[in-house]
Amino acid sequence: MTEAEALYPAHVAEMTRRYAEAADQGGFDALVIGSGVPEYHFQDDQAVPFVANPFFRQWVPLLEHPGSSLVFEIGRRPVLVVLQPADYWHQPPALPAAAIAGQFDLRVIGDAGAIDAHLPGPARRTAILGPPRQWDGLLPAAPRNPAAVVDHLHYTRACKTDWEVACIRAAAAIAAPGHHAALAAFRAGASEYDILAAFLGGCRQTEAELPYGAIVALNEHAATLHYQHRDRSARRPRDLHSLLIDAGCASRGYACDITRSYAFRDDEFAAMVADMDRMQQDLCAAVRPGLPFPDLHRQTHVMLAGLLQRWGLVRMEPADMIAAEITFAFFPHGLGHLLGLQVHDVGGHLADAAGTALQPPADFPRLRFLRSLEPGQVVTIEPGIYFIDSLLERLRADPAGAQVDWGRVEGLRRYGGIRIEDDVLVTATGGENLTRPLIGH
Ligand code: GLY
Ligand code: MN
Ligand code: MN
Repeated sequence: MTEAEALYPAHVAEMTRRYAEAADQGGFDALVIGSGVPEYHFQDDQAVPFVANPFFRQWVPLLEHPGSSLVFEIGRRPVLVVLQPADYWHQPPALPAAAIAGQFDLRVIGDAGAIDAHLPGPARRTAILGPPRQWDGLLPAAPRNPAAVVDHLHYTRACKTDWEVACIRAAAAIAAPGHHAALAAFRAGASEYDILAAFLGGCRQTEAELPYGAIVALNEHAATLHYQHRDRSARRPRDLHSLLIDAGCASRGYACDITRSYAFRDDEFAAMVADMDRMQQDLCAAVRPGLPFPDLHRQTHVMLAGLLQRWGLVRMEPADMIAAEITFAFFPHGLGHLLGLQVHDVGGHLADAAGTALQPPADFPRLRFLRSLEPGQVVTIEPGIYFIDSLLERLRADPAGAQVDWGRVEGLRRYGGIRIEDDVLVTATGGENLTRPLIGH
């Protein structure tokens, strides 16, 4: 048994506790949690890459098992039903390892229809969690994804078990050599496409296994926050200025989310990246339980305003800069988000397990991660600064725009922007950066 596997029984015990509470909150005593079924392109026999239902993945690290289910009845050992069809077109999914299977009453079926015999009986008040299409014609009276159950699970999911933290650490350990290989490719003048290939080769994951589409942005492409293309054209060294790579891996269904920004040469942009890196590490060091995340986001704007002033980009005091929404024009996204089964993990707007919604603060009405930090949460810390044409045009048209040194801004547009992102575990006394020690810079 591996070190991580030793943590799995306690994880299943915690899931048993949480899912019983969630079921009870919704007035249910049984939950059927399907892994999902393949989804096909329109009028096509080709399926999109299968991603298992996160509720199912939270229970069992079975990632390539469409049609499987976890049948949870309060007071009974959970039943894991694995669909293992005899298929000569595809390799049938493997059965779980003993350390996983041993936590469940394992049943193996060869045909999807055989699930019927393993479902809760009619005396049970049953709800279904997961993609409803898996249950067409089955359990017709069972509500699909009832809000009272989902809210509870989304809220409680923020705090990770030790097993979940081990999975995120493992994902980061997989991603680190990918980031190293990507940096070496950038230094050698590779295209975006080739930098991505280097990343995938370094971490030895397929693109479909990644928890989100990797962002590999050279030069001005870094100004698009979720830049999605893979430019194949090689550039001459003199036309290369910067790389922003936002790329994470997954392990046993859990994600990491890592961004690094690099200057191609030792110029003023390299100094800006170094300043942003110090600022990001200061923010990571500020992570502690009890801190409302919106406060840390607000603090980020203050720090960023200080940099904009120091770099000579904006001639204004930080407080005035924030009031005039100048920092927003350079940093239009949130400081971070919950991380786990999904890269943007759910429940960031929930005040409690009953589903009460938190309201964003008046000064940041679009903020989505609104909770206070708690031990066990894993959050990203990802400040940035970008030169985004549409936002800069708006700022230029604003009276406050007169305080911006537009000549300097113009000179920096070719670099696109900077984002530096690490994943931080909130501990009992502070935070632990899970990713930086592995990336090493
Ligand atoms: N990778 C997307 C994000 O950083 O939120
Ligand atoms: Mn992120
Ligand atoms: Mn990211």
